[in-house]
Amino acid sequence: MTRSAPHGPLPQPTLEPPVRRGMSELDRAAFDARLTLLAARLPAAKANKFMKEDAKDFIVRLRGIGAVNPDTSNEYRRVLLRTGDRSSLPTELLEVVKRNDGELVEHDLKVGYDYWTADQILQAVLPEDLLDESPTAFTQVGHIAHVNLREQYLPHRHLIGQVILDKNKGLRTVVNKLDSIDNVYRNFQMEVLAGDPDFQVELSEHDCRFRFDFSKVYWNSRLQTEHARLVESFKPTDVIVDGFAGVGPFAIPAGKKGCGVLASDLNPASAEALGENVKLNKVEKNVRAFEDDGRHFIQTSILKIWNDPFPPYVPALTSREAKRKARAEREARAAAAASPETPASSSASPPFNSLASLSLSPSATPSEPAPRPRRLPNHYIMNLPASALTFLDAFNGLFRPLYKLVGEEEVKRAVEEAGGLPVVHCYCFTKEVEEAEKDICARATEALGHQVHPALPDFALRYVRDVAPKKAMYCLEFRLTEEMVR
Ligand SMILES: C[S@@+](CC[C@H](N)C(=O)[O-])C[C@H]1O[C@@H](n2cnc3c(N)ncnc32)[C@H](O)[C@@H]1O
Repeated sequence: MTRSAPHGPLPQPTLEPPVRRGMSELDRAAFDARLTLLAARLPAAKANKFMKEDAKDFIVRLRGIGAVNPDTSNEYRRVLLRTGDRSSLPTELLEVVKRNDGELVEHDLKVGYDYWTADQILQAVLPEDLLDESPTAFTQVGHIAHVNLREQYLPHRHLIGQVILDKNKGLRTVVNKLDSIDNVYRNFQMEVLAGDPDFQVELSEHDCRFRFDFSKVYWNSRLQTEHARLVESFKPTDVIVDGFAGVGPFAIPAGKKGCGVLASDLNPASAEALGENVKLNKVEKNVRAFEDDGRHFIQTSILKIWNDPFPPYVPALTSREAKRKARAEREARAAAAASPETPASSSASPPFNSLASLSLSPSATPSEPAPRPRRLPNHYIMNLPASALTFLDAFNGLFRPLYKLVGEEEVKRAVEEAGGLPVVHCYCFTKEVEEAEKDICARATEALGHQVHPALPDFALRYVRDVAPKKAMYCLEFRLTEEMVR
C-alpha cells in the first residue's frame, strides 16, 4: 500500500527547543515544547502491524519518542504519524485506518528540559556568534567534569556548567580549568561552575581504586592506556622505581601484579594520596611510598632497595591449588603425628619431602634453587613529560654507592641475578614531530652525559599521544649500560 501512495514517504517532523537567547540563569521551565501530530487510534492488537507494515513510511521517528502510545482507553493505542495535516496523508492510508476499526485523532506531544540534549539547550541559549562550536565537551575524573572553556564562553560558564551537570548522570561537580598545567605539581587551578564544591575523588582504573583531591594533585584519565601498557610489560618478579608517581596509577597496579615498587612524588598531597591508595588497594607488602624529589629519589634508590630488599615474588595460588596444598599439608601433619620417631612438638611442620612434592609454593624444592630476595631495580618510570629528560643525569653513576658498599664482583652477580641493568621509561614532549627520535635522543644524551641512541639495548621510542598541534608525547626507553651507571 505505502509503495503506491501518491504522496510518497512523508518527511519527519522536527522537534527543537524554544530559542531563549539572553538567558543568564538556567530556567528549565522555559524549554517546554509541544508538537501536535495526527495519530491513528487503533485497537491495541492491530497497532503493531499497522506501524510495521501498513504505514511504515508515515510513522513518526523522533529520538526518545515511541511511535506507539497509550490511549485514554486501554483497548486502544495511538500510532503517531509524521504530520498534523490530514491532507498530506494518502487516502489509501486513511482507508487502512478505517478497515482496522480505527480513526485519526490529534495527539499532543509535550517535551520539556529533560528531553533536550546539552547541545540543543546551549544552542538555544547562547548568543548566535557562539554557536559554531559546542562547549559541552569535558573530561571526567570521578564525579568531576572538567571543561576548558574558551574566553568567549566565560560569561556563560555557570549556565554551561549547569547544563553539563544536568545532562550527565554520574557527575556531581563541573569545574573550569583556570590555567594550563605549568606548575611543578602538574595540577591546575579550577573554578566550580556547577554542583558540589567537592574535589575529593574516588575512581577505578584497571581494577585498582584511587582516592585523591583533584584540586591538589595530577590525574589524567587519558593516560590509562599508557599506564596499562607499561604495567603489562613488567614481570611480577620485577622491581620498579617510579620517581614521579603521582597518586600511583603505575605503582599500584604494578604492586598488585606482584612487582616490588618504590614510588615517590614531590607534591606532599600526591605522596599522601599515594600512601592512602597503597592501603586502599592492600598492596602494602609490595609498594613503598615516599615524598621526595625525583632526582634524589633515583640516586638513592639502589641502596634503598639493597638495604631493604623486596621478598621473593610469591605467585598467588588458584583456589584449587590452595585446596590441594591445604589437603596435602593436613595429610603430611597426620602422617608425621602417626610416626613413632617424630617428636610430638614438630607435628605442626610436615616433613620436607612431603611438602616439596606439592611444588605449589615458591619455596625451594630439591631441584630448584630457593628464590632470592629482590635487591635491585629492573625498571625506572619517569612520567613528568615536560622535564623528565633533564632528570636523566640521576642515572650517571647510579651504582657507584653500591660498588663502594659491596664491591664490583658482588654487584655484578646481583645484576645478573636481577636479569640485567634496569630499563628507563622516560616520558617527554617534542615539538619536532617530524624528527622526534633525533630531538629526544639529543636532549637525553645531553642530560645523561652518555650517548642515547637506537643501538642501546632495549631502545624504543614509543609514541603516546598528541598533546597539541605539533606537540607529541613519547616514551623513551633504553636499558642502562655499565658505562652509564659506574
Ligand atoms: C605528569 S604527573 C604524572 C603522575 C603519575 N605518574 C601519572 O601517570 O598520573 C608528574 C608528577 O610528578 C610530580 N613532580 C613534579 N616535579 C617533581 C620532582 N622534581 N620530583 C618528583 N616528583 C615531581 C608531580 O607532582 C606529578 O605528580
